[in-house]
Amino acid sequence: MKLCVALDLASAKENLDLLELLRDYGIWVKVGLRSFIRDGQAFLHAIKAINPAFKIFLDLKLYDIPNTMGDSIDEIAKLDVDMVTLHASSGRGGMREVMERLKVIENPPLVMAVSALTSFDEESFFEIYHRDIPSQVLEFAKIASSVGVNGIVCSCLESLQIKQTFSRDFLTLTPAIRPFGEGSGDQKRIANLQDAKEAMSDFIVVGRPIYKAANPQEVVKKILETMELSC
Ligand code: C5P
Repeated sequence: MKLCVALDLASAKENLDLLELLRDYGIWVKVGLRSFIRDGQAFLHAIKAINPAFKIFLDLKLYDIPNTMGDSIDEIAKLDVDMVTLHASSGRGGMREVMERLKVIENPPLVMAVSALTSFDEESFFEIYHRDIPSQVLEFAKIASSVGVNGIVCSCLESLQIKQTFSRDFLTLTPAIRPFGEGSGDQKRIANLQDAKEAMSDFIVVGRPIYKAANPQEVVKKILETMELSC
Protein backbone atom coordinates (compact mmCIF):
# COMPACT_ATOMS: atom_id res chain seq x y z
CA MET A 1 0.00 0.00 0.00
CA LYS A 2 1.33 3.41 -0.99
CA LEU A 3 0.59 6.82 0.46
CA CYS A 4 -0.41 9.70 -1.85
CA VAL A 5 -0.32 13.11 -0.20
CA ALA A 6 -2.83 15.53 -1.74
CA LEU A 7 -1.29 18.94 -2.44
CA ASP A 8 -4.50 20.93 -2.13
CA LEU A 9 -3.15 24.04 -0.40
CA ALA A 10 -3.92 27.60 -1.47
CA SER A 11 -0.59 28.43 -3.14
CA ALA A 12 2.33 26.71 -4.82
CA LYS A 13 4.60 28.01 -2.08
CA GLU A 14 2.55 26.41 0.69
CA ASN A 15 2.46 23.08 -1.17
CA LEU A 16 6.19 23.16 -1.86
CA ASP A 17 6.98 24.13 1.74
CA LEU A 18 4.95 21.09 2.81
CA LEU A 19 6.88 18.89 0.39
CA GLU A 20 10.20 20.19 1.68
CA LEU A 21 9.18 18.81 5.07
CA LEU A 22 8.34 15.45 3.46
CA ARG A 23 11.28 15.26 1.07
CA ASP A 24 12.82 12.16 2.64
CA TYR A 25 9.68 10.05 2.64
CA GLY A 26 8.85 7.55 -0.11
CA ILE A 27 5.50 9.08 -0.98
CA TRP A 28 3.39 9.81 -4.03
CA VAL A 29 2.14 13.35 -4.39
CA LYS A 30 -1.27 14.16 -5.77
CA VAL A 31 -1.66 17.27 -7.89
CA GLY A 32 -5.31 18.13 -8.32
CA LEU A 33 -7.29 20.68 -10.28
CA ARG A 34 -6.67 23.52 -7.85
CA SER A 35 -2.88 23.27 -8.08
CA PHE A 36 -2.66 22.40 -11.76
CA ILE A 37 -5.01 25.17 -12.95
CA ARG A 38 -3.11 27.70 -10.88
CA ASP A 39 0.47 26.50 -11.11
CA GLY A 40 0.62 24.35 -14.27
CA GLN A 41 3.54 22.32 -15.50
CA ALA A 42 6.08 24.48 -13.63
CA PHE A 43 4.63 23.06 -10.42
CA LEU A 44 5.39 19.49 -11.54
CA HIS A 45 9.00 20.50 -12.20
CA ALA A 46 9.20 22.16 -8.79
CA ILE A 47 8.05 18.92 -7.13
CA LYS A 48 10.74 16.90 -8.90
CA ALA A 49 13.33 19.56 -7.97
CA ILE A 50 12.64 18.84 -4.29
CA ASN A 51 13.03 15.11 -4.75
CA PRO A 52 13.17 13.43 -8.19
CA ALA A 53 11.98 10.21 -6.55
CA PHE A 54 8.55 11.67 -5.74
CA LYS A 55 5.96 9.94 -7.91
CA ILE A 56 3.35 12.31 -9.31
CA PHE A 57 -0.33 11.50 -9.45
CA LEU A 58 -2.07 14.08 -11.66
CA ASP A 59 -5.72 13.96 -10.63
CA LEU A 60 -7.57 15.86 -13.38
CA LYS A 61 -10.52 13.43 -13.62
CA LEU A 62 -11.11 13.61 -17.37
CA TYR A 63 -14.75 13.47 -18.47
CA ASP A 64 -15.57 14.36 -22.08
CA ILE A 65 -16.25 12.90 -25.51
CA PRO A 66 -13.72 10.21 -26.55
CA ASN A 67 -11.82 12.41 -29.03
CA THR A 68 -11.34 15.20 -26.48
CA MET A 69 -10.29 12.72 -23.80
CA GLY A 70 -7.81 11.21 -26.25
CA ASP A 71 -6.39 14.62 -27.18
CA SER A 72 -6.10 15.49 -23.49
CA ILE A 73 -4.22 12.31 -22.63
CA ASP A 74 -1.81 12.98 -25.53
CA GLU A 75 -0.91 16.26 -23.82
CA ILE A 76 -0.83 14.75 -20.32
CA ALA A 77 1.52 12.01 -21.55
CA LYS A 78 4.11 14.72 -22.31
CA LEU A 79 4.15 15.78 -18.66
CA ASP A 80 5.98 12.69 -17.45
CA VAL A 81 3.58 11.93 -14.60
CA ASP A 82 3.11 8.51 -13.02
CA MET A 83 -0.65 8.23 -12.58
CA VAL A 84 -3.74 10.01 -13.95
CA THR A 85 -7.51 9.82 -13.53
CA LEU A 86 -10.57 9.84 -15.74
CA HIS A 87 -14.22 9.35 -14.88
CA ALA A 88 -15.58 5.85 -15.45
CA SER A 89 -18.95 7.48 -16.18
CA SER A 90 -17.38 8.99 -19.31
CA GLY A 91 -18.05 5.50 -20.66
CA ARG A 92 -16.38 2.68 -22.51
CA GLY A 93 -15.60 4.79 -25.60
CA GLY A 94 -13.72 7.53 -23.73
CA MET A 95 -11.77 5.11 -21.56
CA ARG A 96 -10.87 2.94 -24.54
CA GLU A 97 -9.68 5.96 -26.54
CA VAL A 98 -7.39 7.02 -23.67
CA MET A 99 -5.87 3.54 -23.37
CA GLU A 100 -5.43 3.30 -27.16
CA ARG A 101 -3.58 6.63 -27.29
CA LEU A 102 -1.27 5.54 -24.47
CA LYS A 103 -0.26 2.37 -26.34
CA VAL A 104 2.33 4.30 -28.32
CA ILE A 105 3.77 6.07 -25.26
CA GLU A 106 6.94 4.84 -23.60
CA ASN A 107 6.40 4.47 -19.83
CA PRO A 108 2.75 5.53 -19.86
CA PRO A 109 1.16 6.68 -16.60
CA LEU A 110 -1.19 4.38 -14.72
CA VAL A 111 -4.78 5.27 -15.55
CA MET A 112 -7.34 5.08 -12.77
CA ALA A 113 -11.07 5.40 -13.33
CA VAL A 114 -13.04 7.38 -10.76
CA SER A 115 -16.16 5.42 -9.79
CA ALA A 116 -18.37 6.87 -7.03
CA LEU A 117 -16.79 9.99 -5.53
CA THR A 118 -16.10 9.46 -1.84
CA SER A 119 -18.20 12.55 -1.08
CA PHE A 120 -21.34 10.68 -2.20
CA ASP A 121 -23.50 8.85 0.32
CA GLU A 122 -26.10 6.36 -0.94
CA GLU A 123 -28.82 8.99 -1.18
CA SER A 124 -26.85 11.60 -3.13
CA PHE A 125 -25.40 8.89 -5.40
CA PHE A 126 -28.86 7.43 -6.11
CA GLU A 127 -30.13 10.87 -7.14
CA ILE A 128 -27.65 10.88 -10.04
CA TYR A 129 -27.13 7.20 -10.94
CA HIS A 130 -30.38 5.50 -9.76
CA ARG A 131 -28.42 2.59 -8.40
CA ASP A 132 -26.67 1.62 -5.15
CA ILE A 133 -22.98 2.46 -4.80
CA PRO A 134 -21.46 -1.06 -4.48
CA SER A 135 -23.17 -2.48 -7.57
CA GLN A 136 -22.51 0.60 -9.71
CA VAL A 137 -18.84 0.69 -8.66
CA LEU A 138 -18.54 -2.96 -9.67
CA GLU A 139 -20.18 -2.17 -13.01
CA PHE A 140 -17.76 0.74 -13.56
CA ALA A 141 -14.86 -1.58 -12.73
CA LYS A 142 -16.07 -4.20 -15.23
CA ILE A 143 -16.14 -1.67 -18.07
CA ALA A 144 -12.87 -0.01 -17.06
CA SER A 145 -10.97 -3.31 -16.75
CA SER A 146 -12.35 -4.58 -20.08
CA VAL A 147 -10.69 -1.69 -21.95
CA GLY A 148 -7.38 -1.97 -20.10
CA VAL A 149 -7.70 0.79 -17.48
CA ASN A 150 -5.30 0.00 -14.62
CA GLY A 151 -7.66 0.39 -11.69
CA ILE A 152 -10.50 2.14 -9.91
CA VAL A 153 -10.77 5.10 -7.57
CA CYS A 154 -13.32 4.15 -4.92
CA SER A 155 -13.77 4.15 -1.17
CA CYS A 156 -12.47 1.44 1.13
CA LEU A 157 -16.07 0.24 1.42
CA GLU A 158 -15.92 -0.99 -2.19
CA SER A 159 -12.24 -1.81 -2.61
CA LEU A 160 -12.28 -5.37 -1.22
CA GLN A 161 -15.11 -6.47 -3.50
CA ILE A 162 -13.18 -5.16 -6.49
CA LYS A 163 -9.98 -6.93 -5.43
CA GLN A 164 -11.93 -10.16 -4.98
CA THR A 165 -13.76 -9.87 -8.30
CA PHE A 166 -10.92 -8.82 -10.59
CA SER A 167 -7.28 -9.76 -10.86
CA ARG A 168 -5.02 -8.59 -8.02
CA ASP A 169 -3.25 -6.44 -10.62
CA PHE A 170 -6.39 -4.37 -11.10
CA LEU A 171 -5.60 -1.56 -8.67
CA THR A 172 -7.72 0.31 -6.16
CA LEU A 173 -6.99 3.83 -5.02
CA THR A 174 -8.95 5.01 -2.02
CA PRO A 175 -9.33 8.65 -0.95
CA ALA A 176 -11.29 9.80 2.13
CA ILE A 177 -8.77 8.23 4.47
CA ARG A 178 -8.86 9.58 8.00
CA PRO A 179 -5.84 7.79 9.42
CA PHE A 180 -6.35 8.57 13.08
CA GLY A 181 -10.03 9.51 13.36
CA GLU A 182 -9.72 13.07 12.00
CA GLY A 183 -12.83 15.01 10.92
CA SER A 184 -14.48 13.85 7.70
CA GLY A 185 -15.09 17.30 6.15
CA ASP A 186 -17.13 16.84 2.96
CA GLN A 187 -16.20 13.15 2.66
CA LYS A 188 -18.96 10.61 3.35
CA ARG A 189 -17.43 7.14 2.87
CA ILE A 190 -14.36 7.49 5.09
CA ALA A 191 -11.96 4.82 6.36
CA ASN A 192 -8.88 4.51 8.55
CA LEU A 193 -5.57 2.75 7.85
CA GLN A 194 -6.72 -0.61 9.16
CA ASP A 195 -9.84 -0.43 6.97
CA ALA A 196 -7.63 0.38 3.96
CA LYS A 197 -5.43 -2.60 4.70
CA GLU A 198 -8.41 -4.94 5.07
CA ALA A 199 -9.86 -3.53 1.84
CA MET A 200 -6.55 -4.37 0.06
CA SER A 201 -6.21 -0.80 -1.16
CA ASP A 202 -3.12 -0.27 -3.35
CA PHE A 203 -2.98 3.52 -2.88
CA ILE A 204 -4.45 5.66 -0.13
CA VAL A 205 -4.93 9.40 -0.62
CA VAL A 206 -4.66 11.72 2.37
CA GLY A 207 -5.10 15.47 2.14
CA ARG A 208 -6.46 17.55 4.99
CA PRO A 209 -5.38 15.21 7.82
CA ILE A 210 -1.80 15.92 6.68
CA TYR A 211 -1.71 19.45 5.33
CA LYS A 212 -3.96 20.90 8.03
CA ALA A 213 -2.05 19.21 10.85
CA ALA A 214 0.11 21.28 13.19
CA ASN A 215 2.99 18.93 12.35
CA PRO A 216 2.45 17.31 8.92
CA GLN A 217 5.82 15.56 9.04
CA GLU A 218 4.83 13.82 12.25
CA VAL A 219 1.52 12.67 10.75
CA VAL A 220 3.18 11.28 7.59
CA LYS A 221 5.79 9.48 9.69
CA LYS A 222 3.08 7.95 11.86
CA ILE A 223 1.01 6.90 8.81
CA LEU A 224 4.02 5.23 7.17
CA GLU A 225 5.02 3.50 10.41
CA THR A 226 1.48 2.24 10.96
CA MET A 227 1.28 1.04 7.35
CA GLU A 228 4.56 -0.79 7.72
CA LEU A 229 3.47 -2.47 10.96
CA SER A 230 0.05 -3.55 9.79
CA CYS A 231 0.27 -3.71 6.02
O1 C5P B 1 -8.59 16.29 2.22
P1 C5P B 1 -8.95 14.88 1.81
O2 C5P B 1 -8.09 13.83 2.45
O3 C5P B 1 -10.42 14.61 1.95
O4 C5P B 1 -8.59 14.89 0.26
C1 C5P B 1 -8.90 13.84 -0.61
C2 C5P B 1 -8.33 14.16 -1.94
O5 C5P B 1 -8.67 13.09 -2.83
C3 C5P B 1 -8.85 15.45 -2.58
O6 C5P B 1 -7.79 16.03 -3.30
C4 C5P B 1 -9.94 14.97 -3.52
O7 C5P B 1 -10.05 15.79 -4.67
C5 C5P B 1 -9.42 13.59 -3.93
N1 C5P B 1 -10.45 12.63 -4.33
C6 C5P B 1 -11.49 12.25 -3.51
N2 C5P B 1 -12.42 11.34 -3.94
C7 C5P B 1 -12.34 10.81 -5.17
C8 C5P B 1 -11.29 11.17 -6.00
C9 C5P B 1 -10.35 12.08 -5.54
O8 C5P B 1 -11.55 12.72 -2.38
N3 C5P B 1 -13.22 9.92 -5.54
